[in-house]
Amino acid sequence: MYSQGLKDAEGQLEPAELMAEFQARIDREEKIEPRDWMPEAYRKTLIRQMSQHAHSEIVGQLPEGNWITRAPSLKRKMILLAKVQDEAGHGLYIYSATETLGVTRDQLTDELLTGKAKYSSIFNYPTPSWADIGAVGWLVDGAAIMNQVPLCRSSYGPYARSMIRICKEESFHQRQGYEIMTVLARGTAAQKDMAQRALNRFWWPALMMFGPSDKDSKHSEQSMKWKIKRFTNDELRQKFIDATVPQAEHLGLTIPDPELRWNEETGQYDHGEINWQEFIDVIKGNGPCNKERLQARINAHEEGEWVREAAEVYQQKQNQEEAA
Ligand SMILES: [Fe+2]
Ligand SMILES: [Fe+2]
Repeated sequence: MYSQGLKDAEGQLEPAELMAEFQARIDREEKIEPRDWMPEAYRKTLIRQMSQHAHSEIVGQLPEGNWITRAPSLKRKMILLAKVQDEAGHGLYIYSATETLGVTRDQLTDELLTGKAKYSSIFNYPTPSWADIGAVGWLVDGAAIMNQVPLCRSSYGPYARSMIRICKEESFHQRQGYEIMTVLARGTAAQKDMAQRALNRFWWPALMMFGPSDKDSKHSEQSMKWKIKRFTNDELRQKFIDATVPQAEHLGLTIPDPELRWNEETGQYDHGEINWQEFIDVIKGNGPCNKERLQARINAHEEGEWVREAAEVYQQKQNQEEAA
């Protein structure tokens, strides 16, 4: 009876009956909850994916936070501040959801700060102009929505539930970005040019956000079977392209891909080859801003130490008072 199934953390085979029952629950679209039995590999996959997601929300504040004081009007500053604050909230929900799998927040933070854990490579690109904030909202939050809407139906309950609110906020983010782009694209020639250059910078990195091509994606198949993922990387990338190209046309901007064209037969856009070498280089730490981003997180963690200490002492005092 132990002859099939995946191996757990100690290299022991997971009991086949438990595995079969687990898969049957997933096939019935039941949610898996923190206290339920789950294969060790399922737990590990979720910890990896969810912590990577939480880290991305946190690091993702940096390229935009850079523009809060320089946004062109008080209204723009307020909108951007609210957006960046949402991303901090997303990070906190997802860290909490990840903790239900038996890791601590300290472990997760440590993995980020030591470079052991990854976050989305898109945040290792710079935002040199105001139009980049438009492009980030439109394309980066837009790609995030494509990825995250199916996660509202993820088989792991705490992850699925946290995604519902997050997706509502992401759709506001996408619209605020597109609205920035609309104003610039209808503005002066210099403003339109600034919008085009931001699109040129963010188009390809946004396509890379969906991860490696299906043929090179080592986690996809099992994650689909466990309904952690509902669509493959290439399927989501294609949906994103098909939704975004008409939006660029509406703005009168040009997608920086000379091979992009509508395919009558497939009813989808064909597109040029993605530069996967660039993707690998950025993941390996050699993107334009990797070092700067990580250093900013390390500094924030160190400078916030007194706050964490103060909160702990306050908690201890409260506990003592309650006990007395
Ligand atoms: Fe977010
Ligand atoms: Fe967002």
